[in-house]
Amino acid sequence: MADKKGEQMYTRPPKLSGWDSFKIFLWNSETSQFLGRTGSSWGKILLFYLIFYAVLIGFFSAMLAVFYQTLDDREPKWKLEKSLIGSNPGLGFRPMPPDSNVESTLIWYKASDKGNVQFWQKQLDEFLATYEKENNPNYNNVEQCIPHQKPSKGKVCDVRLDADWQKCVKENGYNYDSPEGGPCIFLKLNKIYGWNPEYYNSTTVPDNMPQYLKSEIIEAEARNDYKYVWVSCQGENPADVENIGVIRYLPKWGFASQYFPFENVDGYLSPLVAIYFEKPKRGVLINIECKAWARNIIHDRTDRRGSVHFELMID
Ligand SMILES: *[C@@H]1O[C@H](CO)[C@@H](O)[C@H](O)[C@H]1NC(C)=O
Repeated sequence: MADKKGEQMYTRPPKLSGWDSFKIFLWNSETSQFLGRTGSSWGKILLFYLIFYAVLIGFFSAMLAVFYQTLDDREPKWKLEKSLIGSNPGLGFRPMPPDSNVESTLIWYKASDKGNVQFWQKQLDEFLATYEKENNPNYNNVEQCIPHQKPSKGKVCDVRLDADWQKCVKENGYNYDSPEGGPCIFLKLNKIYGWNPEYYNSTTVPDNMPQYLKSEIIEAEARNDYKYVWVSCQGENPADVENIGVIRYLPKWGFASQYFPFENVDGYLSPLVAIYFEKPKRGVLINIECKAWARNIIHDRTDRRGSVHFELMID
């Protein structure tokens, strides 16, 4: 026996062609090896990986479960000052210029050109569609609120695009194709979970606020109707002020208090203010800056907080 083994050790293994050696690698009938391993070796390896991945999946799921325990579906974990977005809301405007230039803030159209005007009207149609009853899947949460009266728990206040918006309604094409008047631009305050405005009153109006707005707040306070995040828009340079002409704010001068704070209730509608330019000068570029006013809104143009800048040009 020992002899035989020794003999075997010294015989050269038969030289095999590439294909033959591959066939033997696939299935070696002498040693019962499949792909270089016996059945029990394959079994052990399979068992090892089975246990290995099971433990890995278990560990990963456990960690994920622990992580999800710390989160809430409705409420951000980090709020207001503690969050990255902070507690100073930004102001946004619609319609937005075409996507081809993301940096652009220029609203430029030819009032007499139907196709040109339609682009902006369509943008607004799409933006305002979310405010329509039919498009709000949570319309049962929407209440018709009395000004400055908060909705019931778990409900939200309606933003009705009705006759109060005057020329800034869909039926009027938001006044973009008017031969004389200017367009309506909608302003929206960015939503910040749990943010409550600190409203200005007659004793707290800041010095840098436009004079007409100061008077408006004092009058509003006398009517006990002062709880707004006020909005003011102005031409940026003296020439812009002259070119822009009269600016009107619809339906009110600001965002009313019943819409705050935003607490991610289903169906929530962000309040809007439409600014309507009565008779802006044609054929010139006009720089406009709009600001939102509350004691806890700090204006910072470089950071785009509390204010928004855009240009208007009507040919
Ligand atoms: C105005 O607001 C300040 C700060 O919230 C408050 O202390 C003050 O009483 C208010 N004044 C009036 C007249 O309501």
